[in-house]
Amino acid sequence: MKFTFVTLFPNIIKCYFEDSILKRGIEKKVIDTQFVNPRDFTKNRYKKVDEPLIGGGAGMLMSPQPLDSALNSIKSVSKDAYMIFLTPSGKRFNQQDAKRLSKKRHLVFISGRYEGIDERILETHANEQFSIGDYILTGGELASLVLCDAISRNVQGVLGNEDSLKDESFENELLEAPAFTKPDIFKKNSIIKEFLKGNHGKIASLKYELSLLKTKYYRPDLYKKQKNEGK
Ligand code: ADE
Repeated sequence: MKFTFVTLFPNIIKCYFEDSILKRGIEKKVIDTQFVNPRDFTKNRYKKVDEPLIGGGAGMLMSPQPLDSALNSIKSVSKDAYMIFLTPSGKRFNQQDAKRLSKKRHLVFISGRYEGIDERILETHANEQFSIGDYILTGGELASLVLCDAISRNVQGVLGNEDSLKDESFENELLEAPAFTKPDIFKKNSIIKEFLKGNHGKIASLKYELSLLKTKYYRPDLYKKQKNEGK
């Protein structure tokens, strides 16, 4: 899977790939990154990439020309390029999106800065638009990393142990059951005794019950879906 980040600030993003799982993903050649800066595509001598809003409103917008040229240059060499814009007005990103998008060959994340991106660029180039939550960031870079990270975990070969994808939160719209590791007793608190006994059937059904309870408590919105689907 190839990830291209279109951003005025590539350094914010690059460091995320210098450690841990995504670094290994790059070393194993299961993922690859590329950085494209719209500033390199400006046609004005000052390399200006923003303009005031037309029709009033505070702040500046990213100019259409450098972005349009940058995106066309990507498309001209990759027929698989799938354009994803990060914007607070996009669809809320979720785990189903992460799984679905992990099947693509080339994802291009376009990060807005300033007050955002000229609507005509979105209309011309966006395959999808995503938000990571109902709050405003200073730019789309963090959001693009959130998507890239969540998608990468689902790309074959990125995680050392693919079993870890199986019982995690949001599988079947449930939060993951409580998890424990050694020691069995920590600061006088014991782990759930049943987990030590090795009866895998019993542990699985207990985990399912605990998942339901945890979801009911922390995410009543998700829990309601369970009930509605008659699960
Ligand atoms: N850019 C600014 N805020 C954002 C958000 N919440 N999600 C995605 N992109 C953004």
